[in-house]
Amino acid sequence: MPDPDAPEAAPRFRDKPVSFVRRSGRMSDAQERAWDELSGTYLLEVDRDAAATSIRPGSTIDPAAEFGRAARLVVEIGSGQGHAIVHAAAADPATDFIAVEVFRAGLARTMLDADREGVRNLRLVEANAPEVLEHLLPEASVDEVWIFFPDPWHKTKHNKRRLIADGFPALAARALRDGGVLRLATDWEDYALQMREVLAGADEFEAAFDGEWAARFEGRIMTAFERKGIAKGRDIRDLTYRRRPRTP
Ligand SMILES: C[S@@+](CC[C@H](N)C(=O)[O-])C[C@H]1O[C@@H](n2cnc3c(N)ncnc32)[C@H](O)[C@@H]1O
Repeated sequence: MPDPDAPEAAPRFRDKPVSFVRRSGRMSDAQERAWDELSGTYLLEVDRDAAATSIRPGSTIDPAAEFGRAARLVVEIGSGQGHAIVHAAAADPATDFIAVEVFRAGLARTMLDADREGVRNLRLVEANAPEVLEHLLPEASVDEVWIFFPDPWHKTKHNKRRLIADGFPALAARALRDGGVLRLATDWEDYALQMREVLAGADEFEAAFDGEWAARFEGRIMTAFERKGIAKGRDIRDLTYRRRPRTP
């Protein structure tokens, strides 16, 4: 992971720290080719604000127009290499999927795999996820939001960069339809506890599980991050919440 305290990593245009440090790593030749050849099919063109991964307020998309149909919509935040979402999209062609990621090489890999699988019900957004939830997606347009193994930012001085913190539930609740589902998973116990505390304090959501944790989400395939957590002996924690109906 790049040094988050390096001066160039400081968010220059935003008033809150972001939950990522953009990696400048070169793409492989195959990824460069995928980016050039497949972006037209998979990558949503978005309007930017000041920062490179920002979304211009007011630049809301119409998912039905983007996909050419009205269908259930699942949004995965921090899709990484895209293994989970490509698998899910291939397995459920009746649902549309949007992957949100800032790591360009990961998006290129996602496009390559999607193309190889013949997946057409998937679009990618290269942007900072909170801004996607706040500005790009129409209010109440999303059936499910998935966030699997978000960066843990486990050092105390970096905790403030965590994605699922105060302020996040309101953004997810805006994009989700009434009854929509928020699915979270992490292998970092203290982040799992933070997620549960943050969501317990959010009026827009109710827990969709009994007991301490949700059952493992069956629709999630094992990614390298989950495998690594298991190899290190960590418990994998799933959490599932339902968006309460909006009050008039
Ligand atoms: C630890 S990886 C997990 C990837 C994937 N979910 C998996 O399980 O394999 C977290 C990913 O979230 C992305 N990410 C972090 N903050 C983000 C943000 N604010 N907007 C979009 N992507 C973000 C990172 O670039 C990284 O690829």
